[in-house]
Amino acid sequence: MLLDGNDGLKALTEAYAAGHALPGFVAYNLETVQGIVAAAEAATDQPVIIQAGSSPFKHAGQETLMRLALDAAHRSTARLGVHLDHSRDLDEITACLKAGYTSVMVDGSHLPFAENIALTREAVRRARDHGAWVEAELGALAGDEDVSTDADASAVAMTDPVQAAEFVAETGVDALAIAVGNVHGFTTRPVRLDLDRLAEIRTAVPVPLVLHGASGLPEEQLHGALARGVAKVNVNAELRRAYLEAVSARLPTALPGSDVVTVWAAGRDAVTQAATRIINQLKPSG
Ligand code: 13P
Repeated sequence: MLLDGNDGLKALTEAYAAGHALPGFVAYNLETVQGIVAAAEAATDQPVIIQAGSSPFKHAGQETLMRLALDAAHRSTARLGVHLDHSRDLDEITACLKAGYTSVMVDGSHLPFAENIALTREAVRRARDHGAWVEAELGALAGDEDVSTDADASAVAMTDPVQAAEFVAETGVDALAIAVGNVHGFTTRPVRLDLDRLAEIRTAVPVPLVLHGASGLPEEQLHGALARGVAKVNVNAELRRAYLEAVSARLPTALPGSDVVTVWAAGRDAVTQAATRIINQLKPSG
């Protein structure tokens, strides 16, 4: 079932209060949507967020991917949110809200502080008309959303706790994505989160925090983040890698017969396995 905005925000708030997190999995195509949904169905009663867009719209087409994700969520027995990730475009945000997305992320992290506030405030205003909740970002994350670039977290701005408090108060946003040493994609150097900074942000702001760039993060770092107010964890590169490894392993036997179906199925099942592992890391213990 597709969660509505209220139920989605309730699930996020409950996870925040209980010290665990909802996974936000990025989907690009039919097989990744199906793989994520299958993992959510196996994880009875754990809400899962399908992040369909914004960057994947460039590959799949906005209308096609929106409809695909929403339809899969509606038909599923699992509790699924459908979320727009990293959007800088208010028209795109409005289109997803009208289509029925549970939540949107407005990303003004590249803008000066006052402009990020103005953009985020407008996205919140629009989302309220559709009953959806809003995530925004303060501080800048290193790396690329679609390709692992071995980015260096020290090259970008970390979230400032005092600014974060002002940002949340001024915008009315429901969840805040933070930069505390996290990086989009895999890196060769192990990522170390600034957990002290994260604890300060948590104390300063009254809303759940969102950790982007969770692929490859050591498990103790992840648990440190969950203990400090992170209630949504975004994962993309781990699913992409699982998909590609499974597809490349299958290709030699599939190529002689031009058998695309078993290749796509292998990719889809690998996404399910990777997503299941992450759901298990994030769910309430015991
Ligand atoms: P990773 O690719 O590092 O998992 O990051 C995903 C993400 O933050 C999507 O918004």
